[in-house]
Amino acid sequence: MIAKIKVPGGQKVCGVVPVSGAKNAALPLLASSILSNNGLRLNNVPKLLDVDTMFSLLESLGATCQVVKNSVYNDSVELKTDSIHNFTAPYDMVKKMRASILVLGPLLARCGRCKVSLPGGCAIGVRPIDLHLKGMEALGAAIDLKNGYVHATAKNGLRGADFEFPIVTVTGTENIMMAAVLAEGTTVLKNAAKEPEIVDLANCLNKRGAKISGHGTDTIVINGVSGLREAEYDVLPDRIEAGTYAIAAGITGGSVDLIGGNFEELLPSFMDKMKQMGLELSAIENGTRVKCSGKLSSASVNTEPHPGFPTDLQAQTMALMCLVEGESNIFESIWENRFMHVAELMRMGADITVSGAHASVRGVKQLRGAPVMATDLRASFSLVLAALAAKGDTIIDRVYHLDRGYCCVKEKLAGCGVTVERIN
Ligand code: EPZ
Repeated sequence: MIAKIKVPGGQKVCGVVPVSGAKNAALPLLASSILSNNGLRLNNVPKLLDVDTMFSLLESLGATCQVVKNSVYNDSVELKTDSIHNFTAPYDMVKKMRASILVLGPLLARCGRCKVSLPGGCAIGVRPIDLHLKGMEALGAAIDLKNGYVHATAKNGLRGADFEFPIVTVTGTENIMMAAVLAEGTTVLKNAAKEPEIVDLANCLNKRGAKISGHGTDTIVINGVSGLREAEYDVLPDRIEAGTYAIAAGITGGSVDLIGGNFEELLPSFMDKMKQMGLELSAIENGTRVKCSGKLSSASVNTEPHPGFPTDLQAQTMALMCLVEGESNIFESIWENRFMHVAELMRMGADITVSGAHASVRGVKQLRGAPVMATDLRASFSLVLAALAAKGDTIIDRVYHLDRGYCCVKEKLAGCGVTVERIN
């Protein structure tokens, strides 16, 4: 396993970034293939460790996932799920990737039963699934927790119901929406998550014959159907990857053309904040240009569910703030432990104070390269960003975190005139 990456400092990121398909859209879309024995072909599937993990999980259930076409940064995948013969998502898979919980709803809806390991915590927090389970019970499932596993059954099938989420949950909304697609009758989900990835999942399900409306708002209505037809669908571009490379331009005084979608539309709050800090944004053909041509201003950020500022861009934005004169503030209101990149940034000379969910960042003139350690997926890229702007070389350890959610980093940075080196 190539575990480290060496990032020489003082590099300027200037070039074109082909944005891959969204990890957080591809994972629920792959899980949704379980809902029907008719095939699903997904295009623009990103080449990521987490996607490979989902392939392994689906294949362990009896599905086949065949890459039928691969381009440099994305694959087309043919999913055949006519023979689901196993209904267990085991601990060793679920602990690797929390999004494995997304097979719960589809297995319950299609097969009337499943056994899914409780995900356990991860670096950024406890990450409970109580709302996923309450939603399934609202649809008539019987839920039993035993030996670290969720045993869920719906002997007489699922029935539509009204369910209000006490807090906004992205995969919780996705799980219940998928289960409701085959339920008897109508389901109304209130306080639903509004992320573009949820809209993408609903659009794919509707293309297969589901009857979903209101996706993208906080009230989603699903009229149950008896089955889904086969279809082909393109995964939407990854707004978090796009935002990450936008910050790469900002922190190095460069410019990137983010190709693959309208990222001002997909990242409204984030792009507003980047403009407020002084980055120049402009629409280009099939993309968005982000340019940094002068001094940036400090800012305050509060992470919120979409369309608020995405928590998945918090760590990267903090890296940018480390080199902006004055005091910036970050309030992380989604995850209780998503500041692990702070200690690593401070090893590089950043001046950050954390108190609970609040981090205050005072800009410094320069960061210095140092050996640092990636702690979670998005934190790993915040260290790459800081390293690109630092003086001297940075060696980032545990870089498998990066490979979970970012494909072809070396190649995409090389396309922007930047060299990074993988070392054992
Ligand atoms: C999704 O995680 C994303 N993952 C995360 O991205 C992202 O950070 C998160 O949404 C928030 O936007 C995928 O889509 C695969 P939540 P998810 O359920 O669905 C609490 C990345 O970097 N909660 O929206 O697991 C929870 O503790 C990853 O790509 C409950 O209390 O997040 C959190 O405080 C990291 N009970 C809040 O809700 C539940 O049953 C939001 O969590 C579920 C969630």
